[in-house]
Amino acid sequence: MERTKILVTGGAGYIGSHAVVELYEAGFMPVIIDDFSNSRESVLTGLEQILGVRVPFHRVDCNDAEAMRAVFAEEGNLRGAIHFAAYKAVGESIEKPLEYYQNNIGSLLTLLQVMREFGVEALVFSSSCTVYGVPDKLPVTELTPTKKANSPYGATKQMCEDILRDVAAAPSNRLKTILLRYFNPIGAHASAKIGELPLGVPQNLIPYVTQTAAGIREKLTIYGDTYATPDGTNIRDYVHVVDLAKAHVVAVQRLLDGKGEVVETFNIGTGRGNTVLEVVHAFERATGQKLNYVIGPPRPGDVPAIYADVTKATQELGFRTTATLEEALASSWKWQQSLAAVS
Ligand code: WQD
Repeated sequence: MERTKILVTGGAGYIGSHAVVELYEAGFMPVIIDDFSNSRESVLTGLEQILGVRVPFHRVDCNDAEAMRAVFAEEGNLRGAIHFAAYKAVGESIEKPLEYYQNNIGSLLTLLQVMREFGVEALVFSSSCTVYGVPDKLPVTELTPTKKANSPYGATKQMCEDILRDVAAAPSNRLKTILLRYFNPIGAHASAKIGELPLGVPQNLIPYVTQTAAGIREKLTIYGDTYATPDGTNIRDYVHVVDLAKAHVVAVQRLLDGKGEVVETFNIGTGRGNTVLEVVHAFERATGQKLNYVIGPPRPGDVPAIYADVTKATQELGFRTTATLEEALASSWKWQQSLAAVS
């Protein structure tokens, strides 16, 4: 039987590449679009090693409507799309707001336009817990009010959500969409053939931790230990990227089955919050590595604490994470070691 084709924009990126694996293993045919603006071609080799086949790939910028039309025309029978492709660095977005608005909003508009032209009606969108800003109450549910974003990056995620709600509400509309609000994705595929590939000095915690353990960075600086949390460091909800990837398979299937509302929003996290120090100690336990770290000043813009209420995803999607924090961190370390072995 022919596999159902799902377009995966940003399919060479960190979360996108793991979703490609899970989609293929669930019986879909992922069709990757990526322009390698924040990923590398070697990801395609990793995917081929895991899957044993080369899935369709198009080197295209999602803002390029003509090139996007060519992909839809060539593939012929795309049934849905997952839109991962976006710029995602909070700090950089403050330096380059225009590029962030142009790329993140423009690519969604272009994708929606081309999907409509080709009658593709199912879209899963990569949103973020950043839309909640500094929440008044924890854990956050999907009904927790969003707050003014503290970066242009966060603002693009809120605007994209608004755009999707407006488009889906239009009387003539046929689009059905699921907005997945990711918490903090970590970890790597068990094969260590794909994982997070930060270009330059990592901004996110886990790649900084693994690079420190590998001797690439001298020490981790923990950004503040005087927050109102049990040990004073920030709380986040760290979700294994393979669990997160599986949420996309469930969401795509739900759209294709015609279940649910026209627009639905789900938190995708574990439902657990961990402090930065807990993560450091869990990493040490999981890997046997001693981590060199110091406490530094707070990072501007950091939310003191956030973690997900996952009741809705559990009840309506039947989605449940399975990996423990230690398992996720062990997989990040295995990936870091495989990177060190090739470079
Ligand atoms: C995690 C924790 C830091 C680095 C960002 C985006 C969010 C989302 C995921 C995007 C924080 C601390 C970090 C370091 C540290 N989506 N830390 N030393 O800020 O929670 O979320 O990524 O793509 O929208 O904002 O993730 O990994 O940067 O930080 O102490 O060197 O680790 O202060 O508490 P964050 P992060």
